[in-house]
Amino acid sequence: MQHYFQPWKKQKDNYQKSRAQLKSECQGFEKAIITQANTPVGTKLVYDGEKRTIEVTPEMFSTFTKEYPFPNKTWDTCAVVGNGGIMAESGCGEMIDSAQFVIRCNLPPLKNGFEKHVGVKTNLVTANPSILLEKYGSLMGRRRLFVENLQIYGDSLLLLPAFSYGANTPVSLRAANTIEDFGSPIRPIFFNPEYLQKLAAFWQGQSLRAVRLSTGIMMASLALELCRDVHLYGFWPFGYHPHRFYDLKYHYYDDTPFPTGFHAMPAEFELLLQLHSQGVLNLHLGDC
Ligand code: CTP
Repeated sequence: MQHYFQPWKKQKDNYQKSRAQLKSECQGFEKAIITQANTPVGTKLVYDGEKRTIEVTPEMFSTFTKEYPFPNKTWDTCAVVGNGGIMAESGCGEMIDSAQFVIRCNLPPLKNGFEKHVGVKTNLVTANPSILLEKYGSLMGRRRLFVENLQIYGDSLLLLPAFSYGANTPVSLRAANTIEDFGSPIRPIFFNPEYLQKLAAFWQGQSLRAVRLSTGIMMASLALELCRDVHLYGFWPFGYHPHRFYDLKYHYYDDTPFPTGFHAMPAEFELLLQLHSQGVLNLHLGDC
């Protein structure tokens, strides 16, 4: 951690090297998202989280975005906001909202006092299908609350890992159909499982051993391909504050306990901290 306390300075060569490596090994710039252009009807998709394939049906195809959602240019500044308890008193809202492109994870709450600390601007927000299961009954019954709760994200992109596990697919397709049926402005898009597989291999190559990458490191990796300056907030998978050492919760907004097993967030954090000290991205751990 002692590197962290030196003032951060971008090191262009290191940034370009990491970006070039991600671009050549993962091609998120062109392939992170499933579109009607890159995934025609009949394509056999290979799930990235389990041994399973699925053939794209016309019905499925109709939920795919027509065009690639990222423009063919690099954004100047991106903020990727993790949901760590470290955000709770950070005062980073304004700084986050000043980024050109803001990425958030897992439909986080942004109102009722959180604005000051996490901001409100959202250009892309991810959703784990487990949230749709737990909070919205898998969208099998009434769906209005789901659509109402999406309003805070405006017309951002809603990124779902629809083809990571078999169980994710029907509920992700239902989410896309619900959004269309209710005329919600949010734009559902699906992760390309091939991209996620390549990304897992990329981080394995950096000695990361995890059953599955966390959403946060997926988004930080994508941001490195899409953005010139990448700022990370809310990435601190530990139970105490890094400077003031008081107890921290896992999330800034609820009492979910620290997870065990599935992800390797402390190991991911080490790798992100390395990128920070190499001047590749800026990991914010202090108050703003
Ligand atoms: N995160 C972190 N430290 C925390 C909490 C979250 O570094 N104390 C990062 C992780 O990269 C995580 C992301 O912020 O993936 C989003 O947080 P959360 O929504 O809590 O993720 P989980 O649901 O726990 O895990 P995932 O979506 O990765 O399966």
